[in-house]
Amino acid sequence: MGKDRHRRRDQEASLSSDLSERPDRAFFGRRKGKRLTDTRGGLIDRLLPHLRVPLSDGLDPASLFSVPVTTLALEIGFGGGEHLLHQARLNPQTGFIGCEPFVNGMAKMVAAIENENIKNIRVFDSDAVELLKALAPASLDRIFILYPDPWPKRRQNKRRFISDLTVELLAKALKSGGELRFATDIDHYAGWTLTHIFRSSSLTWTAKGPEDWRKPWTDWIQTRYEAKARREGRRSSYLTFKRR
Ligand SMILES: C[S@@+](CC[C@H](N)C(=O)[O-])C[C@H]1O[C@@H](n2cnc3c(N)ncnc32)[C@H](O)[C@@H]1O
Repeated sequence: MGKDRHRRRDQEASLSSDLSERPDRAFFGRRKGKRLTDTRGGLIDRLLPHLRVPLSDGLDPASLFSVPVTTLALEIGFGGGEHLLHQARLNPQTGFIGCEPFVNGMAKMVAAIENENIKNIRVFDSDAVELLKALAPASLDRIFILYPDPWPKRRQNKRRFISDLTVELLAKALKSGGELRFATDIDHYAGWTLTHIFRSSSLTWTAKGPEDWRKPWTDWIQTRYEAKARREGRRSSYLTFKRR
C-alpha cells in the first residue's frame, strides 16, 4: 500500500515535469486533484500503457483501434468524460481519442473503458498540443473542445487553449469538410475563439443565425462544467466550424 502511494507520487511528478519542459508553449492546467484510491491508481498503472496513444510523427489515428472504424474524432479536455463516453457509445464505428491531462479524470475514463469493454476510445494524458503536432495532416473528421478552462482575467487570457498556434494545428489535423465543435459559457471566450478563427483561412463558422449557436448539437449530452454553468446562471455558446 505504502509502495503504491510512492509510485503514484512519482508517476504524478513525472507527468508534471514532462509538461514544464515545453519550450514553445506553457501548459497551465491542473494535473492532480484528490489522491487516487489504490484501486483507481492500480487501474491507471495497468491499463493506461495499453490505452495511451503513442506519439510519432505523422501518427495515423485509424491505426489505433482494434475494431473497424469509419470515422475519427478527438475530444480535448474531456474532464469527467461524460460527453466522450456518450459519443463513443452512440457511435461504435467512430474511433475516439480522448485527451485529458487531469489524472483523476483519466482514472475515471480508464475505469469506464474497462467496465464497459469499450473498444473505440484511446486516450492521451498530456497536453493536446503535443498530440495535434504529431497527428498526420487531414486525419480527423471531428474535434470537440467543450468548456475549455476559461482563464477569465485579462492577464490570464493568453493561457487559453485557443490561440493562433492551436487554430492552425486544429485545422491541419481536420480532413477537408471536417468539423470542430467548441462550447463555452464565457461570452468573452466565445468572442475570443471567433476572432482567432476568423484570422485563419482554413476554418469557417457554419452558423446562419442565433439558434445555431444558442442550441446544443442534437447528439449532445450535458457535461459537468455545463451543469455548473447552469447552476450559476450562465448560458452557453455552441460554435461549429468547418475545415475548408
Ligand atoms: C473546464 S474543464 C471542462 C471539462 C469537460 N470538457 C466538461 O465540459 O465538463 C477543462 C478541461 O480541459 C483540460 N485541459 C486543459 N488544458 C488542456 C490541454 N492543453 N490539453 C488537453 N486538455 C486540457 C483540463 O484538465 C480540464 O479537465
